[in-house]
Amino acid sequence: MLQKHYSVITPGYAMKMEHIQPERGRFNFHDADYILDYAIEHNLLVRGHTLVWHEQIPDWVSKSSHSGDELRTVMEDHISSVVSHFRKKYPGRVKYWDVVNEAFLKNGEPRKSLWTKIGNGNLDYLSVALLAAKRADPSAKLFYNDFGTEWNPKKAKAVYQLVRDLQNKDIPIDGVGFQLHLETEPFDPDELKRQFSLFHQLGLEVHITEMDSRIKVDDGLSENELNGQLESYRNALRVCLESEACKVFATWGFTDRYSWIPSEFPGYGSALPFDENYGAKPVFWTIVDVLRQN
Ligand code: XIL
Repeated sequence: MLQKHYSVITPGYAMKMEHIQPERGRFNFHDADYILDYAIEHNLLVRGHTLVWHEQIPDWVSKSSHSGDELRTVMEDHISSVVSHFRKKYPGRVKYWDVVNEAFLKNGEPRKSLWTKIGNGNLDYLSVALLAAKRADPSAKLFYNDFGTEWNPKKAKAVYQLVRDLQNKDIPIDGVGFQLHLETEPFDPDELKRQFSLFHQLGLEVHITEMDSRIKVDDGLSENELNGQLESYRNALRVCLESEACKVFATWGFTDRYSWIPSEFPGYGSALPFDENYGAKPVFWTIVDVLRQN
């Protein structure tokens, strides 16, 4: 399935901090290397995901009482070890890194997490992280990745302002990831288009990084819900194809058999292009249609 229909893959878990550095200084690259070997064998590129996030952090970090300075060392060591490992072992293969994930709240304010203890301002850690990633792999493209920006103007504004500030400070940033975890009600494609073009004007790439569109399945699956889902996929892919800045359109998983939706959103499911038995769903054929038209 992956070999036939995809050209870029993202490890959903294997590169997250709690998994890849379960104890300080002990790295567990086994699962991620397995994915990288697969990518090499089948000629796929990899989006590295994710170096700095407030979730899925090991206890030795989250349950410690590290000072801001110690956390800075922890974060820099983590980024440098992980990024260097893949650069050395698989040169050029992890072409993109989600360096920082989900730094903002719904209201556009910086999300307080342990990482915000680093430096003086709430967002200082982003500069530190991006610089560390750049040192470890100067040719990888460095991304900021978040959800909800396609519909939430406060968050969208915050991400745009962040990118401007980073650029003004000469901090390396190459792109913005739009996760696009959607419910079935359609989002506004013109708004997404507008945002893509704003980032394009700043010289950045944009990626749709984690698309899925969940349906409330515990009460059956209505025609309306299905149509809404198809419209979401159609619009997202169209906007991506029509935008010069958009280089990757990725779904978060590909088969409903392995999707985070049912456990994270009880009652919901059926969010991906392939069903639980790897059969192509209407979403898949919608994607094919849009690709044919373009
Ligand atoms: C999810 C994984 O799919 C789950 O298995 C895990 O329990 C939680 O994280 N945004 C992200 C992804 O950037 O890393 C998340 O992945 C989904 C939301």
